[in-house]
Amino acid sequence: MSAFVNVNGRISDGEHAAISVFDHGFVYGEGVYETIRTYNGEPFLFDRHLQRLRRSAEMILLDVPFGDDEFLRRAIDTMAAARLGHRGHEPAAEAYIRILLTRGIGDLTYDPAATPSPSLVIIVKPLPVPAASEFERGVKVCMVDIIRNHPRSVNPLIKSNNLLNNALGMQQALRKGGVEGVFRNYRGELSECSQSNLFVVKGGVVRTPPLDAGLLAGITRQFVFELGKSVGVKVEEALLKDRDLFDADEAFFTSTTKELMPIVQVDEHTIGTGTPGQITKKLLAEFRRRANEMTLARA
Ligand code: PDD
Repeated sequence: MSAFVNVNGRISDGEHAAISVFDHGFVYGEGVYETIRTYNGEPFLFDRHLQRLRRSAEMILLDVPFGDDEFLRRAIDTMAAARLGHRGHEPAAEAYIRILLTRGIGDLTYDPAATPSPSLVIIVKPLPVPAASEFERGVKVCMVDIIRNHPRSVNPLIKSNNLLNNALGMQQALRKGGVEGVFRNYRGELSECSQSNLFVVKGGVVRTPPLDAGLLAGITRQFVFELGKSVGVKVEEALLKDRDLFDADEAFFTSTTKELMPIVQVDEHTIGTGTPGQITKKLLAEFRRRANEMTLARA
């Protein structure tokens, strides 16, 4: 694993990166994170990710004693150590950047007074990209019977390091041959996938569950609304049930690392014609065009 890691300002290779077992991120899963990627070697939508990190931290009453500049500086330094990103490299080697902010190190108690300073860890490694064939042919996802967290337990709006529910959902899907698991919420409505947001297309309109269905406000999800406007496709939030997915003309999921991934099968249900749909392809092309344009302008 060719990762480089910045632990509280100290950079080392992945093998030598270490954090105390008394860090509450480890013992209690108390912390928040962001996954960011580069295009043209430049972190994409970094400001939006930091905004969400701050919102997540606020929701667990975790102070963030770092300015945006400090996050960016540490991410760039770690990319440089990993020899990723555009600085000094042509063409740019794309990076995966995971920022984790935890409650910090302290005695084994839930009392936050025990952990006066949060730990900031930044993992940088070569970006794992899905195979081109997955975008060309589409992928299979599976419904899972684990439900997405109730908003009044660990609210899905918090991008939390506490990912056991997501991991169990994904693992169930993997066992059934899917690349993603689709969660319902406690009301039985569709919410999102284990690591991505869900979209369906019906009659030319793109729909995704509203935030109050209990899901993460994905940065890519938000971007799809903007893409819809630029290519003249209606994108809206709507309450969705299983049948809306099974009977969709097209479906796709979105995330920072998977962009817009066409779904062509859900368990035994074939979606649309069983190949990626025209609207999905159009939005994906526009997404890549914009990501390229926005990062080339800065690089
Ligand atoms: N996952 N929903 C969940 C539960 C997620 O974990 C993610 C992202 C998304 C998509 O969010 P965004 O578009 O902001 O990446 C939705 C990241 C990639 C991860 O877990 O590494």
